[in-house]
Order: sequence, then structure tokens, then C-alpha cells
Amino acid sequence: MTAPEYDLEFVRSQFPNIGELAFFENAGGTFVPAAVSDRIYDYMRRNQVQPGASYLASTEAMERIDRSHRRLAEMVNADAREVIVGHSTTMNVYVLANALKPSLKPGDEVVVTNLDHEANIGAWRRLQESGIVVKEWQIDSESAELGGTQKLEQLLTDRTRLVCCTWCSNITGTINDMQAIAELSHSAGALLCADAVAYAPHRALDFKNSNVDFLLFSLYKLYGPHLGVLCGKRERLLELDNQNHFFFTRSALPQKLQPGGYQHETAASIEGIVEYFDRIFEHHFGESECSTKERYEKIFELFAQHEDEIAHPLMDFLNSKPNVRIIGLPEVDFTRRVPTISMAVADKRHREIAAKLGEQNIGVGAGDFYARRCIDALNLGAGGVVRISMVHYNSLDEVARLINALDELL
Ligand SMILES: Cc1ncc(COP(=O)(O)O)c(C=O)c1O
Repeated sequence: MTAPEYDLEFVRSQFPNIGELAFFENAGGTFVPAAVSDRIYDYMRRNQVQPGASYLASTEAMERIDRSHRRLAEMVNADAREVIVGHSTTMNVYVLANALKPSLKPGDEVVVTNLDHEANIGAWRRLQESGIVVKEWQIDSESAELGGTQKLEQLLTDRTRLVCCTWCSNITGTINDMQAIAELSHSAGALLCADAVAYAPHRALDFKNSNVDFLLFSLYKLYGPHLGVLCGKRERLLELDNQNHFFFTRSALPQKLQPGGYQHETAASIEGIVEYFDRIFEHHFGESECSTKERYEKIFELFAQHEDEIAHPLMDFLNSKPNVRIIGLPEVDFTRRVPTISMAVADKRHREIAAKLGEQNIGVGAGDFYARRCIDALNLGAGGVVRISMVHYNSLDEVARLINALDELL
């Protein structure tokens, strides 16, 4: 099948809040399609009762939440019992670290990076209070890259129990070779916890074939409601301690790792993300017979091509500016990076630049984005970076507006 032409107008028509604001802070949280926001509204009007009781509003509420959970699992090619939903990725990592703690002994080792968002570092570092040794896999202070797996290899020992690493940096947009990291971690007898929060908005996730033991992503950065998802290999999850009420057993998945549950109206809206992707697929590929996995691969291939196309003019423009340092790979290449482009400007007026763009209804971010250790390692502690993050619904016109505005400011 030849690739269809990408229909950006159709894509944008799915998002009610696409309009005057040229939005480039997608790595902080994306817009949601009507299929998601309508479900939240509808759930609250029709089903806002305790789910799982015997009356219609309640049985329907349960069905909506269950269906969302099942379809979320299908979307990332995981079993439903392998999918834990919580308030955020940060919360999910805390729950996971607490659940894992009893199986670790003093002297056991955990590897974290200084590239990750603090969500996949802080909870692991706190294990030091229980005698766990935490080692840091450090980025190169110029390239901002972890640089293959050689450095990781040197950190691994027969006491390493866990490696925690981001699949894609929320600062540089660099995609790490998770397959190689998984193989190496496993060969040392360690588990792998991969943060796919910055990766998932741009590439299809395939948990079953990923070789990752624990996979994290946040739905509010994947065109959905403000929730975080933790996928865990079933046998690994079964080994973890219960973090919920005492009457949940060790095999109660996903409940034992969802203390406090999560908001029902947002839970029921997750199905809207899937409906959105279904619409995109059917619009571009018709009723073609594909497995779910193939459908997502095709959708995200279309997205990646478009993202590269709109990233090119911005990258060329930034490269032409002598007072700009692009953090990470200064090239567009969807095999190596996503279009999350951070820059440091010589005089570090980062917040001022973001504010000036904001006055023109252009949204970008400035700061460290909670990847503080990465920003410090790159000697950018004073002002962080300006981050311009695009996704598949951004347009060339928006990029042109951004470039024009930046040209006045840089
Ligand atoms: C790469 C990355 N990991 C983790 C997180 C934390 O996600 P959450 O806000 O769901 O805790 C973020 C949030 O910005 C992120 O960009």
C-alpha cells in the first residue's frame, strides 16, 4: 500500500482548541481531540455515580471505564492486567519503587541517568535510604547524549537489579536505543524501567515486543486526559508488593498498584484517544484489514513524516543563528530524534523570549522542565533552555509564524 497524503486539515479539525494559539509546548501536555473532552463531559452528566453498582447509570459507568482500560491496553500492545493507570507518571514511579523495595537488599544497585526527567530518578534515588546503591549513567556535557551503551556496561555489576532510563529526552528529543539498553540490562540480570513519556506522542508503543520490564507514559501528553500509565511484564508485576488496601492480593492486577484509584471521568475518556486514532487511520487508509499493531505503526509513520517536514525550516533557521546553541542533535532525523527542540541563547533571556512569543499568541516553554540534572550537566543551570516542541497537528504556517517572531528576538 502506498502511503496516503497526510490530511492535516482533517487532523486539526479533531481538536477544538486549535486556533489562534500557535502551540509549541506540546511536550508539556498536548491538546485533546473532541473525542476525549466530549467523553468527560458526557460521563459527568450521565454516569457520575459510583461505578459497579446495580443501576443503569452505574453499570454503564463501569462499562465505560473497563472498555477504556481494555482499549488502552490494545493501543500499546499489552495485556489489560499489565496496564496500571495512576494520576501521573511521577506518582506511578513512586508506587513502583515502593512496591519493588522489599525485594531489594542493602548493597543491591540501581542505575539512573542524569538525562531523565526527575520522575524516573527521584523515587529511585530515595532507595539509598534503604541501603541501595544508586549509580548515575551520565550524558556527555557537549552532545547531551548517553552515547551508546558502553558507559552503561561499565556501571553494571552482578549486584545491579534495575536500570532506569528515558526512551526519549524531554529536553533534547533524542531517542535512545531501548532495545540495546534492554538487552544489556537483562544480560546483567537487571530489570529495565523505561520512561516513554516524551516518546509516546511521536511513535507507536509496542509493549509486548519491547523487552522493557516497566514502561511509563503520560496520557495528557498523548492527546488524552491527565493520567499516567505504567505497563509492566505480568510476571514482574506479580512479584511486586501490594500498595493498595490489605484485602487486595498479590495477584490483584492492576488494582494492587493503583492505590486510591483515579478519576472516573478521565478514566472513561481514554477510549476517546483510541477513537481519535481510529478516525485518523480510517480517513487515511480506509477500512483496510490490519492488525491493531500495524494500524498504529501506519498512523505514527504518517505523523513522523509530517513532524520532520515541519521541523526542517525551524532547525535550519536556528542553525543559522550564531547566538543559538541547539541542545542535542542539531539535525532533523526521525530515526534519531523527535521534534522537541531546545536551545540555549547566548545571553540566556529564555523566559523573556518565551514571554515575548506568548504576547504574540505563540506558546513555547522555558526552564528546566524537571530534567534539572540534565540541565545542570550541560551547564545551563542559570536559565535552562527555550523548548519548542511540535507534534503531528502543528502546521508549516505555525512554524513560519514562530520563525518570524523569533527572528526579531534572537
Ligand atoms: C520525559 C518525562 N518523563 C516524566 C514526566 C513526568 O510525567 P508526569 O507529569 O505524568 O508525572 C515528564 C513530564 O513532563 C516528562 O517529560
